[in-house]
Amino acid sequence: MFQTIEHPLIDDELTRLRCPACGSAEFRQRVRRIASLMVPAVTADLATDVVSCETPLEITSGKRLRRRILLVPVLRAGLGFLDGFLDLIPGAAVAHIGLARNERTLQPEPYYMKHPPVLKGRDVIVLDPMLATGGSAVEALRRLRDAGADSLRFASLVAAPEGVAEIETAFPEVPVFSAALDRCLNEKGYILPGLGDAGDRLFGTFDD
Ligand code: PRP
Ligand code: URA
Repeated sequence: MFQTIEHPLIDDELTRLRCPACGSAEFRQRVRRIASLMVPAVTADLATDVVSCETPLEITSGKRLRRRILLVPVLRAGLGFLDGFLDLIPGAAVAHIGLARNERTLQPEPYYMKHPPVLKGRDVIVLDPMLATGGSAVEALRRLRDAGADSLRFASLVAAPEGVAEIETAFPEVPVFSAALDRCLNEKGYILPGLGDAGDRLFGTFDD
């Protein structure tokens, strides 16, 4: 279940973000804004319960989210995506998964994971701006599923068709959202046209 989230504001931000002249400070701000713009679509089908609701004038009925939301940024680049989600869902809990893609094998190498003890019963949203081969996304989803998560979804900024297919094969029931679906991967596993290395651009960890 893959969905690109289309909106003129997202398109404009993403076009400016892709440009190599967009430095780290501006890059972080633009990723944050795109993340916020994606939140309504990513959360559109969350379950709600009808509850009694008191106003200053009378008792009426309202709706509350049925399940608690858990945001899971994949370190490092997922951190850049997290703030825009937290801006609109400030009550969400945050778990972290550390995965580093091996530049030679392109396989994800896990180095950290911290989450609430019980994941069952939460709506879990995994955040990683780049969905390239899909190895990192599938590893993150598998670890969360193994830890008990029973409601998972995945959000990215830029996705490659190869990565979308990888998630759909491993987790056909998981909704996958992206602000853009790009063309393909190059021989080094980078997304084309893409935006380069998202972690390096967010945190300035490249040679000037
Ligand atoms: C990037 C990106 C994803 C992964 C995507 O992270 O943030 O996690 O690569 O590639 P894949 O779909 O082929 O697995 P990277 O491992 O470079 O780490 P970083 O965020 O620390 O830079
Ligand atoms: N990770 C990135 O940061 N960018 C890509 O294009 C692929 C993986």
